Amino acid sequence: MNILIVGSGGREHAIAWKLAQSPKVKEIFCAPGNAGIAKIAECIDVSAEDISGIVNVAKENKIGLAVIGPEVPLAMGIVDALEASGIKTFGPNKKCAQLEASKSFTKDFLLRHNIPTAKYKEFTDKEELLNSIGIYGFPMVLKADGLAAGKGVVLAETEAEARSAIEQMMGEKIFGAAGEKIVVEECLMGIEASVLCFVDEKTIIPMESAQDYKRIFDNDEGPNTGGMGTYSPSLLFDEALEKRIMDEILAPTLKGFQMDGLDFKGVLFVGIMITKDGPKVIEFNNRFGDPETQSILPRLETDLLDIFLAVTENNLSSMDIKWSDKKAVCVVLASGGYPGNYEKGDVIEGLERVDEDVLVFHAGTATDCGMAVVTSGGRVLGVTALADTHEEARKKVYENVPKISFDGMQYRKDIGVVKL
Ligand code: AMP
Ligand code: GLY
Repeated sequence: MNILIVGSGGREHAIAWKLAQSPKVKEIFCAPGNAGIAKIAECIDVSAEDISGIVNVAKENKIGLAVIGPEVPLAMGIVDALEASGIKTFGPNKKCAQLEASKSFTKDFLLRHNIPTAKYKEFTDKEELLNSIGIYGFPMVLKADGLAAGKGVVLAETEAEARSAIEQMMGEKIFGAAGEKIVVEECLMGIEASVLCFVDEKTIIPMESAQDYKRIFDNDEGPNTGGMGTYSPSLLFDEALEKRIMDEILAPTLKGFQMDGLDFKGVLFVGIMITKDGPKVIEFNNRFGDPETQSILPRLETDLLDIFLAVTENNLSSMDIKWSDKKAVCVVLASGGYPGNYEKGDVIEGLERVDEDVLVFHAGTATDCGMAVVTSGGRVLGVTALADTHEEARKKVYENVPKISFDGMQYRKDIGVVKL
């Protein structure tokens, strides 16, 4: 079967790498892809957000299954468009994609179905919001309702910080239409974990847990990023917590989808805060996490294509999904300046020096005219090591990361360090 992967990040490289191991996969195409993906797939220079362009690529290349990586095309309805053209697609339709594209849609869903989450209130009027600063105390959690590339959440420590964030979101409109509505939430205290689940209309199966490190600097300092590293499985998880998450969050979520007529098929990423009162939902994403995928998929033993096909055929309950006991740690190498402005086009050196059993997933990379691999994005590479123990995986990844270099390269030194 020919596969089309839509997207160009580390997540898509990990998906392509895993699918390439399936004996049923004939050829993999990726739009637009990156320099690493190009080693295992044919990259086609069509943007992930050019829906009709992607549909044409799928038709021209006799694609048996399209897999959608990022949230923006999902919110634009790429799944609906591909399926209308007879292309089987892994990912939620436009209606279900609101679970990530609108925070208020998700909060409303969670509340209606009694799923534990932070208290919240929505605002569309700037003055009313300014008059409500501190309604749940501080830090004040302010979220742009729409998609903002992982940067739409502000945890304001003081009234002045809250005022300035509100001014930026609703006055200067730094997130455009995504910030026309603001969701204010009670601040949850605890430790975060990401639980990604395969979902079809009848079944929800969590993958192995992962922990993401969202801030740019060590010790969780500095601004939020798309994610600077992950490890899997989360050291916070045990059977009792897994059961609570299934009983209190995942099972009621599937039931809620069924009651609301949300025919969700794909990956539901549940961001969870483990609080002293139990696990609570921070957010839903409706796709694989980046860089969670780079530490989760290397531990998957089952054929990923079989899982994807089972989901699209509403047959997920027939799958017995197996995971390796190995522990994984993924460290993201980012461009200097990220998550703010950064340079592109710097040559990446040392990729060939990395140990053979260490995985290097490309994110923001491209090939220049001289065929050198160069930086082309904020998050450039994700380096994943697997080992029998968490500590060994951490050691192995940090032995390998310094073998790679490019101008301005920055990475966190504390990925996998767990503060309980
Ligand atoms: P989100 O985009 O909703 O995942 O938010 C980004 C990050 O902001 C989360 O990963 C949390 O670290 C933090 N965050 C979001 N909502 C809350 C909340 N209600 N309480 C505490 N932290 C939050
Ligand atoms: N790593 C967080 C995300 O993919 O949204």
